Amino acid sequence: MRIDKLLANMGYGTRKEVKQLLKSGHVRVNNQVEKSPKTHVNPNEEEVSVNGEVVEYKEFIYLMLHKPDDVVSATEDSNDLTVIDILQPEDALFDPFPVGRLDKDTEGLLLITNDGQLSHRLTTPKKDIGKTYFAHIEGEVTERDVEVFQAGVCLDDGYVTKPSFLEIEKTGPQSEIKLTITEGKYHQVKRMFEAVGKRVTYLKRLSIGDLHLDPDLELGEYRELSEAEISYLFQLTNLDH
Ligand code: URA
Repeated sequence: MRIDKLLANMGYGTRKEVKQLLKSGHVRVNNQVEKSPKTHVNPNEEEVSVNGEVVEYKEFIYLMLHKPDDVVSATEDSNDLTVIDILQPEDALFDPFPVGRLDKDTEGLLLITNDGQLSHRLTTPKKDIGKTYFAHIEGEVTERDVEVFQAGVCLDDGYVTKPSFLEIEKTGPQSEIKLTITEGKYHQVKRMFEAVGKRVTYLKRLSIGDLHLDPDLELGEYRELSEAEISYLFQLTNLDH
């Protein structure tokens, strides 16, 4: 990879600033001053340093965001703020994207990465990865709904959902539930409740497999996944790490 790209990716400034840094002799490769921005380096084999500080190169970034309401799960949008717009510039430099989608008004756990292979494996319908949501429902959720959701719900387009696990936390004219589904059809949770004559008024994703939203993250906050969490996702999707 070109040395100017590597340094820009690692937060040492814009490509232009990095070019200046190189030109003024602040950058070394294997302890030799390197001045050309066009030089290619292999960050896994060569040691790059800036003013004596070794550059810790990483290719991939894995973030857990507590997605707030009112931002869209996209990299760009002409009308709305995206989940990428709310990242710090040093993280956005990695060109990350959301893993799957949460609706604009859905809150909760959203993974953001630039690892296309992992993202693809996590979102493919071939893998039965459970995603658990908490929701407020307008209408009384009943044991009958639990059975219907377990058997499969026929959505408005005729698609019958795979078995899902519905837990009633509070029932009455306004109910509160947890629902675990293994697919990600468009507006799936909302459409499942519509199919049984009820309406989702609040939706939050709590977990993907055994990866839970960190309770220390306030709405709009995010953090990098730990090594253990990254390994778990690789294991979940049968990828080597
Ligand atoms: N189901 C929905 O209806 N919306 C989401 O954002 C996620 C799942």
